[in-house]
Amino acid sequence: MHNLNIKVLGIETSCDETAVAIYTAEQGLVLHEVYSQIEQHQVYGGVVPELASRDHIRKLLPMIAQCLKKATVTPSELTLIAYTAGPGLIGALLVGATLAQSLAFAWNIPAMPINHLEGHLLAPMLDEANLTFPFLCLLVSGGHTLLVNVNQVGHYDLLGQSLDDAAGEAFDKVAKLLGLPYPGGPALAKLAEHGQPGRFSFPRPMLDRPGLDFSFSGLKTHVRNCYQQMQTQPNIKANIAWAFQDAVVDTLLGKLQRAIKQTGSRNIVIAGGVSANLLLRARLQQLAEQVKVSVFMPRLEFCTDNAAMIAYAGYLRLLNHQTTDTRILVKPNWPLQTC
Ligand code: KG4
Ligand code: ZN
Repeated sequence: MHNLNIKVLGIETSCDETAVAIYTAEQGLVLHEVYSQIEQHQVYGGVVPELASRDHIRKLLPMIAQCLKKATVTPSELTLIAYTAGPGLIGALLVGATLAQSLAFAWNIPAMPINHLEGHLLAPMLDEANLTFPFLCLLVSGGHTLLVNVNQVGHYDLLGQSLDDAAGEAFDKVAKLLGLPYPGGPALAKLAEHGQPGRFSFPRPMLDRPGLDFSFSGLKTHVRNCYQQMQTQPNIKANIAWAFQDAVVDTLLGKLQRAIKQTGSRNIVIAGGVSANLLLRARLQQLAEQVKVSVFMPRLEFCTDNAAMIAYAGYLRLLNHQTTDTRILVKPNWPLQTC
């Protein structure tokens, strides 16, 4: 097959978003659709895995049919189905993997398991023609906080990671403490806009220690204690939200700056759900100007979970002659370094 004819269907079902995308060599990203289950999980204050799996079952096949129709791509024109095989919720992953392999069998095309984190790492390349390998990526999502040297597709050096809570998880937990709806990250960021700058100052965990690892669970406990002691103060929630966001952003960028120094990397990328945070984006821009590096940030819809990044990762892997697999593969704890 000539490379220009490659057409990839991407499927993402690792958590509470059902997402489908079509990426072609000729046109790039043709379309991508995300259905968010947030409303179903909101009453429980977090994702309920069994409900997530059931909703993926309901939504995924009709979404695929609709996407193919909208993109005027027939199954016989497809080259590959790329699906998220992990990390993620096992039941949710199984829905995507099973459907991907079943359709691949029926349509007589290969299917390829894709690491969700790899999808996030490569997502900034969907928009940025100027972004080429190698680059340094700060991947901040609900499940992971990683500093990664991205050398090539499939060649990732892990430089640092969170030893406990991920940055997004810390946002979600502090938001819950403040009584904000799930998912807490965006809600907390909104509330922080009404906070009084400097009213509180929270610790910047592990910035005073060498190395590139993170830790956010102590900060979360610190915030909880502060909130419990000061609950009756006026505007307490917004002031806490401001100080918490400030501490997380400072910590992330402090370590990123250290990684830039250590690696000498000139191309800096952020990815994952927390990279949609506007304060983080603004401060990263400032940092980039200060230390004279180029910075690439995915558009907001490519920061959070989507299938465009999965289709794209499948496309790049196909170009790199990655072999496909007919097994229904799911790896709920799939480390990035082994993908
Ligand atoms: O990448 P993602 O959609 O899913 C995972 O792979 O985990 O990231 C979701 C995480 C959640 O923790 C959510 O609260 C956080 O990203 N998030 C944000 C913002 N938007 C999403 N955190 C802070 N500020 C935001 N604007
Ligand atoms: Zn994700």
